[in-house]
Amino acid sequence: MSTTRGLEGIVATQSSVSSIIESVLTYQGYDIDDLADNASFEEVIYLLWNGALPKENELSHFTQELANHAEIPKQIIDQMKAYPINKVHPMAALRTAISSLALFDEEADVMDEAANRRKAIKIQAQIPTIVTAFSRIREGLEPVAPRKDLGFAANFLYMLTGNEPDEIAVNAFNKALVLHADHELNASTFTARVCVATLSDVYSGITAAIGALKGPLHGGANEAVMNMLSEIGSVENVEPYIRKALDNKEKIMGFGHRVYKDGDPRAKHLREMSKRLTEITGETKWYEMSKKINEMVTSEKGLLPNVDFYSASVYHSLGIKHDLFTPIFAVSRASGWLAHILEQYSNNRLIRPRAEYIGPNKQTYIPIEQR
Ligand code: ACO
Repeated sequence: MSTTRGLEGIVATQSSVSSIIESVLTYQGYDIDDLADNASFEEVIYLLWNGALPKENELSHFTQELANHAEIPKQIIDQMKAYPINKVHPMAALRTAISSLALFDEEADVMDEAANRRKAIKIQAQIPTIVTAFSRIREGLEPVAPRKDLGFAANFLYMLTGNEPDEIAVNAFNKALVLHADHELNASTFTARVCVATLSDVYSGITAAIGALKGPLHGGANEAVMNMLSEIGSVENVEPYIRKALDNKEKIMGFGHRVYKDGDPRAKHLREMSKRLTEITGETKWYEMSKKINEMVTSEKGLLPNVDFYSASVYHSLGIKHDLFTPIFAVSRASGWLAHILEQYSNNRLIRPRAEYIGPNKQTYIPIEQR
């Protein structure tokens, strides 16, 4: 038996949700560049779940369905109020709250396709409400209820601040959601598929996926990038900071990728958005610092930025708290997780690989008093 560390290059399933072929990312065959420039996030969710872009009436019905399910049970809000809020990371709060949502859904363990699709709608609609409610609760504010007349991106920003966002913010946030929606068999999606392949329920799959996304080698990298930028503080400090980190063989967050070796196609969109938004806020230093880090890491290590690198300065420019960056990733990626979960159920087989044993052999049990 031979092993491939980290399952690199292993093709573990077939999927029609998204593909990465020669560094081109597509959702159901649509190039991410095309979708990022043109599609609403609601259209992308529909596409991922149904395999086709919606017609106008289908989109309005789907958008309404999401809006109709965006409220979360009062018990979840009360529960979040009881969390030790000053010590809890919002990703941990989200993981726990999503798991709790299952307790208030009578269909949580109903396994037919129609019920699973209804759960997908509820989860997708309620994740933003949970993330924004928790953010407000820990600031001593009351959660803002979702509005049915606002689109998905606008509603998130509205629930976060209580104010209706401007068009520039909505468009930027929508684009970020589109870019993060799905990414083939990434770690959190694989986790979701492994979980539901046991015929466990949708909520369990999403809870497991959130746990996997939380780590800094995956979704947690966007917050880590912003922490690094804040620590560096100025363009002049970039060179000594990055030099020291590279000399110490530290990983620079937001660089490198298991699959893309010629660059992450999502990064250029986020780089453009970072430039534009930091010009609007007048805080161009975040973009300038990012650009300089990018130049150094690419020229010295040959590593290119991934989706997380420029998304940090994008979210910061939208006025979003740094520890909400990864929960926002979850808000978007839930659409991909749910598409993969539905696909897994539709053609399921238990996912159970093997391990190459490297432990001791032929041990003999020794009674405890003789050890
Ligand atoms: N900074 C410095 N060196 C790096 C980086 C980095 N960001 N990424 C990889 N390397 C180096 C490694 O140190 C290693 O060098 P070595 O061969 O001399 O030991 C080599 O490149 C290969 O790196 P691995 O970690 O083995 O590559 P792997 O494919 O396992 O990891 C990963 C990919 C996890 C993304 C890695 O590049 C990394 O840790 N990046 C930083 C965290 C990050 O940005 N994660 C987000 C990824 S995108 C996403 O999940 C949304």
